[in-house]
Amino acid sequence: MIHQTMEVLNIKTTRLDIRHLRASDLQDFHLYRSNSEVTKYQGFDVMTMEQAAEFIKENSTKFFGKAGEWVQYGIENRDTGKLIGDCAIKLDQYDTRIAEIGITISHLEQKKGYAKEVMIGILTFLFGSKDIHRVVGIVDVENTASINLLISTGFKQEGHFVENIFFKGKWGSEFLYAMLKREWNERK
Ligand SMILES: CC(C)(COP(=O)(O)OP(=O)(O)OC[C@H]1O[C@@H](n2cnc3c(N)ncnc32)[C@H](O)[C@@H]1OP(=O)(O)O)[C@@H](O)C(=O)NCCC(=O)NCCS
Repeated sequence: MIHQTMEVLNIKTTRLDIRHLRASDLQDFHLYRSNSEVTKYQGFDVMTMEQAAEFIKENSTKFFGKAGEWVQYGIENRDTGKLIGDCAIKLDQYDTRIAEIGITISHLEQKKGYAKEVMIGILTFLFGSKDIHRVVGIVDVENTASINLLISTGFKQEGHFVENIFFKGKWGSEFLYAMLKREWNERK
């Protein structure tokens, strides 16, 4: 079943605004998206300033709600007005009650609880305001920070894919983590 609605996303958490990327985010966005440690386990490679500008521009035409399309959102520290990271949500191509998410926090802002705050904000939005049944996170088996984030927010490991993805010159293996709406409700 496919439900299709398009909307401007704006999620507020205690310290952060999760909102669409803007042209004015370019410097902050490029600062961490050009860092090879930040992009190490991601399909994205490090970006030049031009690539970062093009990425933000392309995303400006995308909205929450379209089946099968990743949309990248900015994570802004409300106190400073600075972009400290970004996150992405994709609704499943065949059933928009299933979502996949990914989070990136600037190397300068990690280990301050921001990713967990974003994750809880997104899950509250998806399970609480949207008709989402299941949320999935797929991570490289070596990406300890990301695995701990998923475990810490209550995701369960459901899958372990072995050398299933060729990226950055070698075969990588991935874990699939998921959370169901009923598990989220039980957790609260
Ligand atoms: C994964 C990532 C988003 C975590 O961001 P963060 O803001 O530093 O995470 P938080 O501070 O909210 O920590 C969340 C949990 O992960 C743990 N964690 C964070 N970084 C860690 C690290 N480097 N090693 C081990 N555990 C780590 C924290 O201890 C915390 O666990 P707890 O709640 O049990 O205490 C960040 O490391 C990142 O952007 N990495 C690069 C991008 C990436 O690979 N993203 C995932 C694929 S899309």
